[in-house]
Amino acid sequence: MAASKTRCIGILTSGGDCPGLNAAIRGVAKAALHYGIKVIGVQDGFRGLVENRTVPIDDAVVSGILTHGGTFLGSSRDKPHKMDMGGRIMDMTDVAVANLKKLNIDCLVCLGGNGTQKNALRLHEKGGVNVLTLPKTIDNDVAETDITFGFDSAMSIATEAIDRLHTTATSHHRAMICEIMGHQAGWLPLGAGIAGGADVILIPEIPYDLKVVVEHIMTRRHHNKRFSIIAVAEGAVSKEDAAENASGKRKPESPLIHKEKNGTVLIQEPKASRIAREIQQLSGVEVRVTSLGHIQRGGIPTANDRLLCTRLGTKAGQLLADGVYNVMVAIRGQDCVSVPLEKVAGITRTVPKDHPWIETARLVDTCMGS
Ligand code: F6P
Repeated sequence: MAASKTRCIGILTSGGDCPGLNAAIRGVAKAALHYGIKVIGVQDGFRGLVENRTVPIDDAVVSGILTHGGTFLGSSRDKPHKMDMGGRIMDMTDVAVANLKKLNIDCLVCLGGNGTQKNALRLHEKGGVNVLTLPKTIDNDVAETDITFGFDSAMSIATEAIDRLHTTATSHHRAMICEIMGHQAGWLPLGAGIAGGADVILIPEIPYDLKVVVEHIMTRRHHNKRFSIIAVAEGAVSKEDAAENASGKRKPESPLIHKEKNGTVLIQEPKASRIAREIQQLSGVEVRVTSLGHIQRGGIPTANDRLLCTRLGTKAGQLLADGVYNVMVAIRGQDCVSVPLEKVAGITRTVPKDHPWIETARLVDTCMGS
């Protein structure tokens, strides 16, 4: 075995957690240790890096964690260049870089979604640090990879939820709305909606017309299908709102928070509640709402995610041994490949309007809201 070009790595998990993070840490660490690379865990994402909170990682630390949910390193949504330091927002990039130097870290491995890809690239460009990333998120919206880890587990959870809603919807002849995460991308509601046989699927990429949705529910009733399951993306938008967003009259809402004009930050009323109220008013059908929320990010990873995380993690170990930096490890077809980080950061991969999953849904009579 040729000598590794990397002697020491740091590894952190950043952004919203998901099933598979521990499996991915284990994959990176075991492969790195195999090549004789020292591994240091950084706690709570970029905040732990700035606050110099680290743990040594050896084989014993990562043994037995393959199936564990969450991330044993902890995570945060902090960014090095805009960090809340006791109420003051500060650029802590220099501190992060100095801490990496003190620890003799040759490359920082960052496991995260879109925000993390951007922060890692910024750290490289502004701080001159070597980074390597893995694509993690239940949203499946990272560019340049066919799939992100966490997505399959979340899709299984959401699908099971739809299955359960089906039986109670049938008993009570109700319309059941199931709100599914995914931020501004529709992969998760679309995938789970098809897998669970939802009758209506509303995703951000296809602005919905509620009249079309109500018509579909009423047609089903006419055919003696007295219940309906509606899978709603947390980022779904009506045609009217989409038009206002496009005209610049109105800022697109975050699915999570709503900022009042005076700057007050409120927790957004779940999109599903608003849609439920409107459907009930327009159709007279009894509607109930289930918002799956963070249940989708909890628990153990599926077999597919465990395999994916182990493949991505071990590929990262090989790249590190070869001295390949500033790339994201991605899945393309059957292969694990490295992609320059500049091609990934700052791009959200939404569902293309002509994606085969949309056609699939329509061919089984699923209403896509337009
Ligand atoms: O990015 C993953 C995700 O779960 C999104 O689907 C969701 O919009 C967001 O994170 C929730 O974030 P938080 O855990 O900060 O509430």
